[in-house]
Amino acid sequence: MNEHSHLSWAGPLTDRRNAQERYARAYQPRERHLHPAADFPGYKSTIARAPKQALLSIPQTMSELTGPVFGHNDLAPHDDDMIVNGQVDGEPIGERIIVHGRVLDQNGRGLPNTLVEVWQANAGGRYRHKLEDYLAPLDPNFGGCGRCVTDEDGNYHFRTIRPGAYPWRNYRNSWRPAHIHFSLFGPAFATRLITQMYFEGDPLIPICPIVNAVPDKAGVDAMTALLDTTANTPHDCLAYRFDIVLRGPRQIFFENRPEGL
Ligand SMILES: [Fe+2]
Repeated sequence: MNEHSHLSWAGPLTDRRNAQERYARAYQPRERHLHPAADFPGYKSTIARAPKQALLSIPQTMSELTGPVFGHNDLAPHDDDMIVNGQVDGEPIGERIIVHGRVLDQNGRGLPNTLVEVWQANAGGRYRHKLEDYLAPLDPNFGGCGRCVTDEDGNYHFRTIRPGAYPWRNYRNSWRPAHIHFSLFGPAFATRLITQMYFEGDPLIPICPIVNAVPDKAGVDAMTALLDTTANTPHDCLAYRFDIVLRGPRQIFFENRPEGL
C-alpha cells in the first residue's frame, strides 16, 4: 500500500470511527415488546400515571450526552456498607447479607465506573422516610441507603441487612416481596436506569402485582438474586449474586423506562 492509498482511507475510517463513537454515546431506546405495558391494572397506580397519548421522541442534546462523571473519590468510606453506615450506638437488627454482582452490556462485558445506588426497607419492612406509615419499627442503627462505583470489570459489592416484606396501598392485602431498589448511572443523566432486586425462594414474588407486570418469567428470574454460597463470609454474612444486564435478550426490566424512551 503506497502513501496515497493510505491517505485515501484516512477520511472514511475517521468518519466511521466518529459515527461509532456518537452511536456509543447516544442512549438507545429500549425494545418495548420485551417489557411490561405502562398501564397494568393489577398495579393500581399505573392506571393514573400511564401515558394516554402516543409518546414523542425528544432529540438528544449536550445535556443528555454529557456528565455527570462519578469516581471513587466521590464516595465516603462506608457508602457500600449499610451494616455500618447507619449505626448510631450498635449493630442493626436482622440478617446480615452481601449483595454483589456485575453490571454487564449485552455482550457480557463488564461496565466500569457505573454508579450503583441502592435503597431498601429495614429487617421489619420499614423504610426510613417521612411518608412511611407501616407500623413496623424503625431501626435506629440502620439507614437503608448505599452506593458504590463498579470496578474495571464491572463488579459491585454491598453489605446490608436483608429487607423485610411490607404491605402497600394497592388493593386490599397487597404485600411486596423482600426487595432492594437499584439505580444505575452511566455516562449521563439520561442513562439512569432503575430496577428492583428480589431474593431467590421468596414465596411473595409470584403473587406481587408489580412483579406480575413483567410478562415473561425469564424477566422475573433476571431480577431475582441467587444465593451465592461461594461469596459468604463465614459466621457473618450470607451472599446473594445479582448481575445487571443493560441491553439485549438478557436485559433486566427497568421500571423507569415504560413511560419514556
Ligand atoms: Fe420498595
